[in-house]
Amino acid sequence: MPQFKNFIPQLTIESPGRINFIGEHTDYNGGFGLPTAIDKKIIFKLKKNNSKNICNIYSANYDASFSLDLENIKISDKEWENYILGVLYEIQQLTNKVEGFDCVLSSDIPVGSGISSSAALECGLAFGLNEMFDLGLSKLDIVKLSQRAEHNYVGTKCGIMDQYASVMSKKDHVILLDCQSIQHQYIPIEIKPYKILLLNTNVSHSLASSEYNTRREECEKGVSIIKKKYPEVNSLRDVDEAMLLEFKNLLSKTVYIRCRYVIEEKTRVLSAVEALKENRLNDFGALMYATHYGLSKEYEVSCPELDFLVEFSKNFDTIIGSRMMGGGFGGCTINLIHEDAISDFIEKVSLAYFNKFNIKLDAFVANPSRGTSVVN
Ligand code: GLA
Repeated sequence: MPQFKNFIPQLTIESPGRINFIGEHTDYNGGFGLPTAIDKKIIFKLKKNNSKNICNIYSANYDASFSLDLENIKISDKEWENYILGVLYEIQQLTNKVEGFDCVLSSDIPVGSGISSSAALECGLAFGLNEMFDLGLSKLDIVKLSQRAEHNYVGTKCGIMDQYASVMSKKDHVILLDCQSIQHQYIPIEIKPYKILLLNTNVSHSLASSEYNTRREECEKGVSIIKKKYPEVNSLRDVDEAMLLEFKNLLSKTVYIRCRYVIEEKTRVLSAVEALKENRLNDFGALMYATHYGLSKEYEVSCPELDFLVEFSKNFDTIIGSRMMGGGFGGCTINLIHEDAISDFIEKVSLAYFNKFNIKLDAFVANPSRGTSVVN
């Protein structure tokens, strides 16, 4: 194992976490999302080590390191290692140009907080190796191989949104991501005098990964039943509320409700984009609250801590929108709050949260930022 102190890299990459304004659990249903990268990131310091196959990885956050042989990549029992191993495995399926390298990682993205430290880790490594070994991968290749890494090595059957946002984002913009065509539009995010405040519950319930996969299966179940009558339907993107209603008695109550949420959310994203473009920020925020209701009561991926924070925000007319963000069962809420009200609100909500759950709340303002990049 090399010395990682005083490590002099050949290449430095930054790979950001992401937020998502609206469009949750829609990506694996061919719907829309409205994510962007933020100014919290993982820094990768990389250099070739002149070996053919040996890679050494050191995480400053965990103060832990491991080595691997590119010819013999296997799933590890340490979750963070699997993000790295998964990416290397997927790259090895595409090219044999990667050779031995050393990598030092450091991150200011809170893990398990729903802002996708995992996508940042996958995409940053893939991006860095693409640069250093001239692999010729496109940004979309990097996004897709990172998603496959998460499916195959971590076991979460995630959609494409997190990796897409981490790689493709542009400073001061959001991405309207169409997960059917896998294309996007950049939309300027001008929300002055409001700011994006993230409140980290500091809980991540262990259900997250298994329940996530179950939601995905419930949606696929709905689609398979609808498809028997309408063969042109390939995902919930192709289903509207009237069509779904025809199947109310053929679907289980749970599957029906999950599908209804996804279909409503698809419409909400498009309404939110119109509101944003027309600077109707109150309407935009109201749609965020509606999404939270759907995620909590219909899709059932929230938890008491998230619900409490969203309810508490309703006591403040300086907050125009709030909801849980990401896969759910913990992590952060995203709040649109007047810039003058931030410190007072943080004080009050932190106290209330602590009194209720005996857990310290973390709060920070997030700024829309560029995607994965080389640091000069
Ligand atoms: C996680 C997944 C994404 C997406 C969100 C929910 O973050 O990685 O693909 O499905 O949950 O919107």
